[in-house]
Amino acid sequence: MQEILDQLEQKRAAARLGGGQKRIDAQHAKGKLTARERLEILLDEGTFEEWDMFVEHRCTDFGMAEQRTPGDGVVTGYGMINGRLVFVFSQDFTVFGGALSEAHAEKICKVMDQAMKVGAPVIGLNDSGGARIQEGVASLGGYAEVFQRNVMASGVIPQISLIMGPCAGGAVYSPAMTDFIVMVKDSSYMFVTGPEVVKTVTHEEVTAEELGGAVTHTSRSGVADLACNDDVQALLMLRRLYNYLPLNNREKAPRRPSGDPIGRVERSLDTLVPDNPNKAYDMKELIVKTVDDGDFFELQPDYAKNILVGFARLDGQTVGIVANQPLVLAGCLDIKSSIKAARFVRFCDAFNIPVITFVDVPGFMPGTSQEYGGIIKHGAKLLYAYAEATVPKITVITRKAYGGAYDVMASKHLRGDVNLAWPNAEIAVMGAKGAVEIIFREEKKDPAKLAEREAEYKRRFANPFVAAERGYIDDVILPHETRQRLCRSLVMLKDKKIDNPWRKHGNIPL
Ligand code: HXC
Repeated sequence: MQEILDQLEQKRAAARLGGGQKRIDAQHAKGKLTARERLEILLDEGTFEEWDMFVEHRCTDFGMAEQRTPGDGVVTGYGMINGRLVFVFSQDFTVFGGALSEAHAEKICKVMDQAMKVGAPVIGLNDSGGARIQEGVASLGGYAEVFQRNVMASGVIPQISLIMGPCAGGAVYSPAMTDFIVMVKDSSYMFVTGPEVVKTVTHEEVTAEELGGAVTHTSRSGVADLACNDDVQALLMLRRLYNYLPLNNREKAPRRPSGDPIGRVERSLDTLVPDNPNKAYDMKELIVKTVDDGDFFELQPDYAKNILVGFARLDGQTVGIVANQPLVLAGCLDIKSSIKAARFVRFCDAFNIPVITFVDVPGFMPGTSQEYGGIIKHGAKLLYAYAEATVPKITVITRKAYGGAYDVMASKHLRGDVNLAWPNAEIAVMGAKGAVEIIFREEKKDPAKLAEREAEYKRRFANPFVAAERGYIDDVILPHETRQRLCRSLVMLKDKKIDNPWRKHGNIPL
C-alpha cells in the first residue's frame, strides 16, 4: 500500500511542478505567478478541490508522445471565494506555453458543465500561447467546445476572465463571451492578430502592449473592464467583484449588511449641482455619498467616461449603478457610452440585480462621426436594454433629462418602477436656447425678444413639475434624502415580478 501511496504522491508532485522549475523561474522572472499560486490567492485558503490532475494529452506527432505532463497545462476544479462556491480553470504557461490541447479543453469543459449543473460561476485565468500547434484541428475543436459552453452559460451563471499572459487569435473569443474581463498591465495582451501579422498586412508598426495590452483594452477598445498592476492586485480585485454577484440567474446576490444607516442624510448633496446649468460636477460624488459605506466598485472606469457603471450596495443589497457623468462631454450619450451601459444593464437584468440610474444628460452626442458610426443603432442598444429589463429599476434625475436621452435613461415609460427628480431637474424636449431658436425662428434677428422667449421657455419647462404633473416622475425629492428614498424603494420592490412575452429571443440592434 505504501508503494501505491508513494506513486500517487510522485504523480501529484509531477503535476504540481508543471513544466519544471526552470520554466517556473522564468514565469516568476516575468513578474507572473504560476497557475497554482494564482489559485491560492483567488480562493479561500484550503478550499481548492482539484480535478483531472492526471489528465495527459493524446498527441503522438512531433515527438509529443515523450512530452507528457500530468494536468496538461491547465489546473481545474472548484473552491470558495468568501465562502461561496466557484469553479475555476487556470492555464499553466510552464506547460507548452499554456497552449490548449484537446485534453486541456476537455478539462475546461468539464468544470463548465459541472458549474452549469450546480449553478455556480466560472472564473478562467488565461495565460496561453493559443491552440496547441502540434495538435492542429483537435485543438481548434477544443476551443469551439469551450465557446459553445460560454454561450450556453451566458446569462445563467456569471463568467469572469482574468487575462494574465498571452491571449491571441481565436482564443480571445472565449473571454470575449464572458461577463467581465480583468487584465494585468505589462504582462497580458489580447489580439486577434499579433504585431507581426499587422505589420505584414497593414504596414503598421505596433508593439504587443500597444495593440492589445491592458491599457489599450480598458481605455480604447472597451474589450476589458479593469486593468491591474500585477497578478496579486488582479486576483484580489476579482475576489471583491465576486462578492457583488449571485451564483446564478435564479438566485439573488448575497446581502452584506453594513453599519451605514438607511436614513443617513447627506446635506452636502444639496449643493452638489451648480447654479449654472452649464457647469459640470462630479456624479461620482453623488454615488459615493449615497451607497453603503461609500463603496462603489466601478467597471470600465477609463472607457467612455461620460457614463459611469459599477456595483455598490444599498441597505446591504447589491445594486448596479448607471450614471451620466457631466464632467465628460457634459454627460452626453454617444456610441461608446451607450454600448458600455447597455451591456451592464443586461448583465444586471440577467442576474437579478436592481438597476439604479442617476440622470444628468443633455442628449445624444451630435456629429458626423457619431452618425456615420451608427449612433442610431448603438443608442438603441441602451434603450432596448432598459426597456427589456424586468429587475427593479429606480431612477433619479439630478439635473438635465433632455430629448430621447430622457426616454432612454430608465424613464417611467420604459417601466421604471420609481422615478424621482431633484427640485432643480430640467425635463424637456431640448434646452431652452435650442428650443426657442426653432419655434421662434422668425424672431432670431431680435436678440432681446429671443432672450425673453428663452427665459419664458425655461420658466415653463426647465423644471421637474411638468413631468411630475403627468406622473412621469413619482416624486420631487431633496438631494440629501436620496439614499433613504432609494433604500425604501428597494424594500418596496423586493418581490417585484414581471415577465416579458414568450419569444425565442429578441433582436437587440447589434
Ligand atoms: C505549442 C507552444 C505554443 C503553442 C508556445 N508554446 N505557444 N507550444 N503550441 N501554441 C511553447 C513554446 O514552444 C515554448 O516551449 C513555451 O511554450 C514557451 O513559449 P516561448 O515562446 O518560449 O515564450 P514567450 O517568449 O513568452 O512567447 C509566448 C508566445 C509565443 C508569444 C505565446 O510562444 C508564441 O508566439 N507562441 C505561438 C502562438 C501561436 O501562434 N499560437 C497559435 C495561435 S492560433 P519550450 O519547450 O521552449 O518551453 C490559435 C487559434 C485558436 O490559437 C483558434 C480558436 C478558434
